[in-house]
Amino acid sequence: MTNIRDHIGADNPEDIAGVRRRLLRWYDREQRDMPWRHTSDPYHIWVSEIMLQQTRVEAVIPYYKNFLRQFPSVAHLARASNERVLTSWSGLGYYSRARNLHRAAKRVQSDHGGVFPVEEQAALDLPGVGRYTASAILSIAYGVPLAVLDGNVARVLSRLRTVRAEVKNTAGRKTLWRLAQEILDTRRPGDFNQAMMELGATICLPGQPRCGSCPLRKDCRAHLQDVTGEYPPARVRAREKSLKLVAAVVWDRAGKYLLERRPASSSWLAGFWELPMWPAAAQTSKNGHSGSSSKARLKLVRPLGTIRHSITQFRIEVEVWQAVVTNNKQADFETKSSKWVDLAAIKKLPATTITRKALAMIGERKEEQE
Ligand code: ADE
Repeated sequence: MTNIRDHIGADNPEDIAGVRRRLLRWYDREQRDMPWRHTSDPYHIWVSEIMLQQTRVEAVIPYYKNFLRQFPSVAHLARASNERVLTSWSGLGYYSRARNLHRAAKRVQSDHGGVFPVEEQAALDLPGVGRYTASAILSIAYGVPLAVLDGNVARVLSRLRTVRAEVKNTAGRKTLWRLAQEILDTRRPGDFNQAMMELGATICLPGQPRCGSCPLRKDCRAHLQDVTGEYPPARVRAREKSLKLVAAVVWDRAGKYLLERRPASSSWLAGFWELPMWPAAAQTSKNGHSGSSSKARLKLVRPLGTIRHSITQFRIEVEVWQAVVTNNKQADFETKSSKWVDLAAIKKLPATTITRKALAMIGERKEEQE
C-alpha cells in the first residue's frame, strides 16, 4: 500500500498542511469569478456541476444563467416538459446530461422534498450523479469532506507527487482518488476541491504548465525534478473517426425551412430536430446515422459551404447544399417527423448544433448577397 508520505519529498516530509494553506490562500486571491461561486444553493451548484462535465467554464456561464432563469428551483425543473429542458440545453451538447438532470429533479422533488440529498449514497442513486459529481456538489454546497477527481485534479496530483497514475485506468484512478482524499482540506472541502480544479485549469496545464506562478512550486516533486512533461504518463488515445454528411437546406416562399426529427431510437440526439441529412458516401453508416427519409424526394441544387463539428468520438464534416423538393409538394413533409419552421420557431426547438451552425452560415451568405 502506498501512503501519501511515500510521495512527499524528503526535504519536506509531511507538509500537507502547508500545501493546503498555500493552495487555499492562492485560491482566495486568484479564483476566477463564476456565477455558481456566489451561491450555496445546492440546486444551483448541482446544475453548474452537470453543465461543467465535459464543457468549459466560459461556454457554460450563459447556459447556466438562462437555465436557472427558466427553471429557478427543483420544483420548476421537475414539472417542466422534456422539450423545454432540451431546448434550453440546446448547443451545450451531451444531451443525456439534461435528460438525467430532469429525471433526477423529479426524484429529488418526490423523494427528498425538493432538496438535493446530503447523504453520499442518496446523491449517487440519482441519474447522472457519479462519484465526481456527488463529491463536488456535497463538498461545495454542504461542506461534506469528499474529494473530487477529474482530469485537471488528476494532473495536479500526478505531478505534485510524481505518481505514475492515469485517471483513465482503473488502478490509476484508485490511487488518485486515495491521494485526493488524503490531501483534501476537510475544513474547507468545497473551496479546496475548486482550488485543485482551478489550479489544473489555469496553472498546471497539460502542455506548458506555468510553474513560475504556481503556489505549490516548492511542494511539487515534478517541478523540483524538472520532469513535469513526464506526468501524468501519456495515454494512447483512441483515434477519432471521421464522418462526412450532406445536409439539405430547403426553404419555402415564406422563409420556412424543412426540418426533420431524429428517431427516438437514435443512439445520439434522439428526438432532436435537424436539417435533412445523410452520409455523404453511398454506403450506410455504421454509427447510427440512418440517413434521411427525405433524401429521395430532395434535389441538391447549389453547394453553400462546409461546416465542421466534433463530438465525443467523431469529427464530422458536413457539406451544406441548397435543395428543392422534387415533386413540389411541400405538404408531403408535414408529418410527425418533418415540418416547415421559420427561424424564430427553430430557436425554440431542440435543434442540433450542426443545424444551428448550418443555418447561421446560410444567414451570413444571405447577408453577403444583399
Ligand atoms: N469544473 C467542474 N466544477 C467546477 C467548479 N465548481 N469550478 C470550476 N471548474 C469546475
